[in-house]
Amino acid sequence: MPAKILDGAQLAQTMQVEMKAEVEELLRQGRPRPGLAAVLVGTDPASQVYVKNKCLACEKVGIQSFKKELPEQTTQAELLALVEELNRDPAVHGILVQLPLPKHIDTLAVIRKISPLKDVDGMGPESTGLLAAGTPRFLPCTPAGVQQLLVRNGIDVTGWHAVIIGRSNIVGKPLALMLLRDAADGNATVTVCHTRTGWSPQTGKVDIEKLQALTRQADLLVAAAGRTPKLITADWIKPGAVVVDVGIHRLAPKKLCGDVDFDSVKEVASTITPVPGGVGPMTITMLLRNTIASARAFL
Ligand code: GUN
Repeated sequence: MPAKILDGAQLAQTMQVEMKAEVEELLRQGRPRPGLAAVLVGTDPASQVYVKNKCLACEKVGIQSFKKELPEQTTQAELLALVEELNRDPAVHGILVQLPLPKHIDTLAVIRKISPLKDVDGMGPESTGLLAAGTPRFLPCTPAGVQQLLVRNGIDVTGWHAVIIGRSNIVGKPLALMLLRDAADGNATVTVCHTRTGWSPQTGKVDIEKLQALTRQADLLVAAAGRTPKLITADWIKPGAVVVDVGIHRLAPKKLCGDVDFDSVKEVASTITPVPGGVGPMTITMLLRNTIASARAFL
């Protein structure tokens, strides 16, 4: 039987309707409207689309968005000064600096400048440390979207072996910490695989079968490698597993795919996310959720 599809687009829509009602209730109580500042440096077309979509989503749920577009040649000092200004602005509850930044800017220094109380992207050191300690404030948006997709579809990972492919700071590593937590949406046993998993000093190569031996143990497999389209085929999957695909690759102008070979894997997995329409729409929704939570915390 083909796998159940986890529809992220539908869930994102449902959650945005809920958030709109939540914002309206806040305003009825006389509280300030939640505000998100989105900072874009340069003219990278993909980043322009992401920032535009984030601002549109804000408007849909009643969050005020402040789009700050700066030229490519903006200096580090100018960008830090803008972040500082946003840190002090009481109408701004969340600050998002779209990545990647131009090469002459120290990304880490900019992320560190964002007030921890406005770090709705969940990437700063305080957000990261709180998550590592098991007491998160703002969860990074993509792994939070993965977790919501599971929870809101009644998938309880307690006692499961979760295997994550990819150790990035923005997806793999925080998701591992989230699934590990002693919490209703955690309690999995987590393995994180990466580009050196199965590496042998004798051959100086990675033995892909060693990686597959791990993925075949996974009750939950999360693909967040982001290197090779459709890398993960049916023979990597334990029958009945839940498969979440965070990868996104453009095969042709209007044809996207993920890290997972959807057509073959859906015949083995019990449940699978599509690309597009799986994790992607959930990411922005989590940014909105963090912004509303931040506005509440400021009161
Ligand atoms: N660029 C790609 N993904 C992200 C993200 O989640 N946050 C930010 N700030 N930039 C990104």
